[in-house]
Amino acid sequence: MQDAQAQAVAVLGRVLAGRNFDSELAAAWRGMPPGNTGQRALVQDLCYGVLRHLGALDAMLEPLLDKPLRDERLRQLLRIALYQLLHTRAAPHAVVDHAVRACAVLRAAPAKGLVNAVLRTFLRRRTELQSASERTEVARYSFPQWWIERLRVQYPDAFAAILQAGNQHAPLTLRVNARRIARDACLERLAAAGIAARALERHAVVLDKPLPVQQIPGFAEGLVSVQDASAQRAAPLLDARDGMRVLDACAAPGGKSAHLLELAQMRLTAVDQNPERLARVSSNLLRLGLAADIIRGDAADPDAWWDGVPFDRILADVPCTASGVTRRHPDIKWSRRESDIPRFAQRQQAIVDALWRLLAPGGKFLYVTCSVFREENQLQIARLLELNSDAQRVALPAEEFPDAPQQHAGQILPDAVHDGFYYALLQKT
Ligand SMILES: C[S@@+](CC[C@H](N)C(=O)[O-])C[C@H]1O[C@@H](n2cnc3c(N)ncnc32)[C@H](O)[C@@H]1O
Repeated sequence: MQDAQAQAVAVLGRVLAGRNFDSELAAAWRGMPPGNTGQRALVQDLCYGVLRHLGALDAMLEPLLDKPLRDERLRQLLRIALYQLLHTRAAPHAVVDHAVRACAVLRAAPAKGLVNAVLRTFLRRRTELQSASERTEVARYSFPQWWIERLRVQYPDAFAAILQAGNQHAPLTLRVNARRIARDACLERLAAAGIAARALERHAVVLDKPLPVQQIPGFAEGLVSVQDASAQRAAPLLDARDGMRVLDACAAPGGKSAHLLELAQMRLTAVDQNPERLARVSSNLLRLGLAADIIRGDAADPDAWWDGVPFDRILADVPCTASGVTRRHPDIKWSRRESDIPRFAQRQQAIVDALWRLLAPGGKFLYVTCSVFREENQLQIARLLELNSDAQRVALPAEEFPDAPQQHAGQILPDAVHDGFYYALLQKT
């Protein structure tokens, strides 16, 4: 366990300093002996666990330190051990012993005494420390204070539920390839393989317990893909039909492009600015036996890649703060700054303004984010409608978007089976 703790220390240190979580985790895995899946899973759990509960862990750690820690690696190690003591079934004495041994792995042997003393004091004073930590909101919700304030203003009744949902474990949801297999047949295949699952809306199936994709029957053959239920609403909403010209303007890694192609025979152009992510569009479509024109380009500068023929349908799944998907990406909570919101809003405006003129009259335009902040959602669409007299809002189906106060129309809030997403469907008159 001490090796996993030490590896998690390294990943957390870099992620909390602003590096990309997925890349850092992948790099740590590459450094482990092949086939050591148990250790990989443990490092992943320690990193996710600390990032999910960071506010509470720090509130409990702070009173245990007599003086400021000079070595940030020790802070990560203590956070990790507290997470294990509070949220996992690991035996407390083993957690403490291994954390002490991890000091040697980290070449910080002189800190063994400190780590031992802090963790043993925590075990003695656990109840008192836990209840004291409930007093601050950052500790109670494990989100930065600015984030909590913003949600409180925008969702006075729902903000606590949104924050709590943002710290849950995300379920593994599959999209059944409608071209290849019916949802019930897919459920039967899963049941035959001993995998408990249930149907959600349309083509979505959620597994009771997450599994590596290689173990999911039909994944390799392209019968199913991994995609959250909220994200699966995009393709049916866009209502693309056979023969249409369709643009997916921010397409990578291709989840929604693939879903569009599974639903109709269209000519799809998939654009994205990021070459590495664009490569994943190709591999995803290849696995599913689908094809699109894949173009590296800036959605805000279509003159560089557009052939001048208007599109019947446009999907703008724009870059955003990703504030609706913190349960999948808990690092976002600590890496985002409040000033990122207007920055993303500006990029979104530039993309939407550039794309609107690419839409054919009568065509439909679907704007999507995985954010819960109004500045990236309702306010963007209000602006677009104000600036473009030929833009008209199309009502979303009531069964998927139940009545919400006007300022929340189109917003899916995160819950047990949905990521937080925003949808607005527009038509050019
Ligand atoms: C939310 S993700 C898209 C997810 C994708 N639609 C899917 O379902 O798999 C946003 C994407 O926008 C891309 N992006 C950001 N700015 C862009 C721009 N100006 N032009 C094109 N793509 C951009 C990012 O590289 C990222 O892949």
